[in-house]
Amino acid sequence: MIPANVIERLRCADHVVVLTGAGVSAESGVATFRDPDGLWAKFRPEELASMTGFLANPERVRDWYAHRLHVVDSVEPNAGHHALAALERLVPSFTLVTQNVDRLHQRAGSMNVLEVHGNLVENRCNDCGWIDDAHQAELQCKTCFGPMRPNVVWFGEDLPHDVWVQAEEATRRADVMFSIGTSAQVYPAAGLPYLAKDHGAFVIEVNPDSTELTPYAHAHLRGPSGVILPELISELTAA
Ligand code: OAD
Repeated sequence: MIPANVIERLRCADHVVVLTGAGVSAESGVATFRDPDGLWAKFRPEELASMTGFLANPERVRDWYAHRLHVVDSVEPNAGHHALAALERLVPSFTLVTQNVDRLHQRAGSMNVLEVHGNLVENRCNDCGWIDDAHQAELQCKTCFGPMRPNVVWFGEDLPHDVWVQAEEATRRADVMFSIGTSAQVYPAAGLPYLAKDHGAFVIEVNPDSTELTPYAHAHLRGPSGVILPELISELTAA
C-alpha cells in the first residue's frame, strides 16, 4: 500500500526527478555493488574501476567490462524499469538520473535519461575523449591512437560535466524526488536528493533497506522496486 500523501504529491507535481542505482536492476539479474553478493564483495574496485588499475592491466579491465556488457545484454528490463517509463508519461515533466551503466531504463522506454556514471555500451579514448558507440572494444582511438577504455566513470574521476549540470538543474526544479535502489553512498550523485529537499521537493526513497538518506526522506517505500513501483503506478492511475 502506497501512502496517500505520496500519491497526492505525485498528482500535483509538475516536475519529477528520479535517481536510480544498481538495486533497480537487481530483479533483472544484474548484480549490485555493495550488497553481500555484490560486485565489490568479489572484485577489487581499485583494480577494475580506477585509472591506476587500467594502466596496470588494460586487458583485464576491458575483459571485465566486456563481460558485464554481455551480462546486461542477456537480461531484460524488469517491472520497476517499466513502471518508471510509465511514470514519465504520466507527469508533465520528468528526468531520470541514473548511476546505472546497463541501459535497461532506455530499453524499457524511458526517454529523458541522464547517465551520470556513463554506460557499458560505449568506449572512450583515454587521451582525446573520442567516443565509440560501436558496442565493441577497439583497442586504439581512431582519431589519436590513444588507448580506448570503457565510457564508465571510475573512482577519483569527474562525472561527465554536461550531464551532471543537467542533473543538478533538473533536481533544483523537482517537486518530487525519488531515490530508488541506491545505497546513497557515492557522491556527488548521492547528494541530489538533499539538493532537491533543500529546494522544496518531497523526497521518496524506494529500497528494501534503510540508507543514510532514509531519515531525511519524507517517505520510505520499503521493498523491491519491481514490486513497489508497479503498485505506485496502479494507485496513481486508479480513478
Ligand atoms: P549499491 O550496490 O551501492 O546499492 C544498491 C542498493 O540497492 C542497496 O541499497 C540495496 O538495498 C538496494 N536494492 C537491492 N535490491 C533492490 C531491489 N530489488 N529494489 C530496490 N533496491 C534494491 O549500488 P549503487 O548505489 O548504484 O559506480 O552504487 C553507486 C555506485 O557505486 C555505482 O554507480 C557504481 C558503484 O561503484 C560506478 O561504477 C562509477
